[in-house]
Amino acid sequence: MIEIAPRTFQVEGRDEADRALANEIVVLVRAKPDLVLGLATGTTPVGVYRELVRLVGTGELDLARVRTFNLDEYLGLERNDPAAFRARMQAMLFGPARIPLARTDLPACDVQRKGEAAECERYERAIEAAGGIDLQLLGIGRNGHIGFNEPGSERATRTRIVELDATTREDAAAAFGGLERVPRRAITVGIATILAARRLRVLAFGPHKASIVRATLEGPICTAVPASFLREHSDVEFWLDRDAARELVRVPSNRV
Ligand code: F6R
Repeated sequence: MIEIAPRTFQVEGRDEADRALANEIVVLVRAKPDLVLGLATGTTPVGVYRELVRLVGTGELDLARVRTFNLDEYLGLERNDPAAFRARMQAMLFGPARIPLARTDLPACDVQRKGEAAECERYERAIEAAGGIDLQLLGIGRNGHIGFNEPGSERATRTRIVELDATTREDAAAAFGGLERVPRRAITVGIATILAARRLRVLAFGPHKASIVRATLEGPICTAVPASFLREHSDVEFWLDRDAARELVRVPSNRV
């Protein structure tokens, strides 16, 4: 691992980032067993979750007392739909890492239209009542979204209903078995909600993330690239593999 720019780490392979982040969580949970974790779905964090499950299995980590809040959830799905983020998190992390159901939270995917505003308010209050997020894991969408804060999202946004961008829906098509089945709306925490976390750990892997990583780290901080707001946080780290870092220009050329 090398620090190619302030708070920006390039790893040889993504498993190096997975281990580094899982180890940071181990240290934090030992100091504070009821750590409040902000979690993401998508493909980016799966290696971190796999490593956390392994560490729980070996007895090096106990997640029984942590609290978790996910960034986002699709709207218009049945509660037990296997494509809902709740179901995916249960299968990938909560179940195998033995995190009690009552200590996990995501926005509801099956809330009725008239209850949507109340659900957003509930979620924001629940994070506050837990004492705020200690460590937030994040991936970056190809269009620069964080959570489901699509381009155009303001820095001051809080948990709310959003319409998903075309690229976001395309990227989700495989998981739903076709584009027409991907929900058009979702609940996401806001950019201000994300920036209120005490630590932000952002992961980006693969050549398809190279141009958005460059826009995030080296472009203007603006609503067109919501991930660019992450640079304003005082404790943010970006973990990139070589492919995702390859379009960065303001880093020393001897980095590889
Ligand atoms: C998912 C989420 C999204 C993803 C982003 C990257 O909960 O919040 O912002 O992190 O779309 O997705 P992947 O990791 O699949 O490339």
